[in-house]
Amino acid sequence: MTDVSKITVLGAGNIGGSLAQRLAEAEVAREVALIDIIDGLPQGKALDIQESAPILGFSTRVSGTTDLSAIRGSDIVVETAGIARKPGMSRSDLLGVNAKIIRTHAEAVKAQAPNAIVLVVSNPVDVMTHYFREVSGQPAGRVFGESGTLDTARFRWFVAEALGVAPRDVTGFVLGTHGDTMVPILSLTSVSGVPLSRLLPADRVSAIVDRTKKGGAEIVNLLKSGSAYYAPSASQAELVTAVARNEHRLLPVTARLNGEFGEKDVTIGVPAILGRNGVERIVEIEVTPAERAAFADSVRAVRDDLRLLSSTP
Ligand code: 2OP
Repeated sequence: MTDVSKITVLGAGNIGGSLAQRLAEAEVAREVALIDIIDGLPQGKALDIQESAPILGFSTRVSGTTDLSAIRGSDIVVETAGIARKPGMSRSDLLGVNAKIIRTHAEAVKAQAPNAIVLVVSNPVDVMTHYFREVSGQPAGRVFGESGTLDTARFRWFVAEALGVAPRDVTGFVLGTHGDTMVPILSLTSVSGVPLSRLLPADRVSAIVDRTKKGGAEIVNLLKSGSAYYAPSASQAELVTAVARNEHRLLPVTARLNGEFGEKDVTIGVPAILGRNGVERIVEIEVTPAERAAFADSVRAVRDDLRLLSSTP
């Protein structure tokens, strides 16, 4: 089923726990290790997931610990640790606190599992992915972030709901940062190949774009404490599976640019091919001039946060 022995999930909060459950149930690796700083949390969630194995029929071994050295031997590491937004906060407000956690974990990966592929999901995800790689020193393609698959899933669902069609038939790309300046690429959105512009009037499309941009905040405001985790963990499982099974999927991922789309030394959502070595290739697609301008705004927003990070003590 898989050639991956071990996946480590850092952070056993709502996202880490539900991701571990999805990975275990799908037997994406032989072992899934959950690590968290709060004693009892990773052990308790791991045991709970493990006890569902006889019912669900999976053979994945699930473990939980507070010991960061359990990273050793990981083929894939998923960084979910950090605080989540509260109502009224932007993802950038999390920057200072989460950067400290990222640094500790990136140093641990560098020391214990330097060849692991790393998926970062902690927010603000574009900046945290960039920073993780700076600290771990891994090749750029081996550290990537999640945002596009989640934002695109939200966008696809809203389109499917508006049209009354099967969600899986809606394809599209949401690129750029995982924030207010994300860029749904309407010119590449279709329902089984039929362009969206032929199916839905422009004002309804623009309402969907607006709702997608605020998709994470909509859930934060509803939950009042904590942020989304069912769709995020589904999106993360899709990315991890693409790596573990060497699927060469073309997906929107947060990747470090080295000249692609005319940008360098910035990490942001772009279409990329994902396989066993992480980001195999960034795919430079043609977009409209308006979409290109929106992407440039998005890059500026990430660069602003990167500057903020470098001036944070
Ligand atoms: C979201 O958009 C947690 O940032 C994540 O829901």
